[in-house]
Amino acid sequence: MSELREVFSREEIQTTISQLAAKINHHYQDCSEPVVAVCVLKGAVVFFSDLIRNLRFDLEVDFVRLASYGKETFRGEKVIFSKDMEIPIADKHVLIVEDIVDTGTTVNYLARVLATRRPKSVKICTLVQKLARREIQLNVDFYGFELDRGFIVGYGLDFAEQYRNLPNICELVE
Ligand code: IMP
Ligand code: MG
Repeated sequence: MSELREVFSREEIQTTISQLAAKINHHYQDCSEPVVAVCVLKGAVVFFSDLIRNLRFDLEVDFVRLASYGKETFRGEKVIFSKDMEIPIADKHVLIVEDIVDTGTTVNYLARVLATRRPKSVKICTLVQKLARREIQLNVDFYGFELDRGFIVGYGLDFAEQYRNLPNICELVE
């Protein structure tokens, strides 16, 4: 049986999100057209819904879902879209909203693919970034928390599709 140990409380998450949103608001404050915020399903959905309600510039929202094949496959080329965006992004500013950037493989793939669609810019925002296992040189533009170890669940994050509905973020301990 696994046990849950709280890592970030509900209150800490909300405080961090409002600080993070302030930085993002500042970055896009002079933007004259809507920014497209892209939620990476499923894990980022709870974070996304809290984050966008703190953003104070014109926004369009869209969703992608990525699937990665077997951990043993060579890194980089194992990610595919299982749901693509619906909004065209040519000449638009794009903000990718992820739950966790760990090795960097997933978000790096997504940013590379979106860049081929000729957006004005692509920025990466993640609630949590883990630095210990980073394999890819990657610039995360905005992040909420840094974590150096552990597997976390709750607030949208799952382990085998469970725990997404927890209001806080917990470490799963054996
Ligand atoms: P990456 O491609 O290695 O950066 O993996 C990122 C993805 O792995 C995230 O979008 C999460 O879905 C998942 N992931 C990584 N670490 C955790 C964790 O601690 N809890 C839940 N999901 C995680
Ligand atoms: Mg994810």
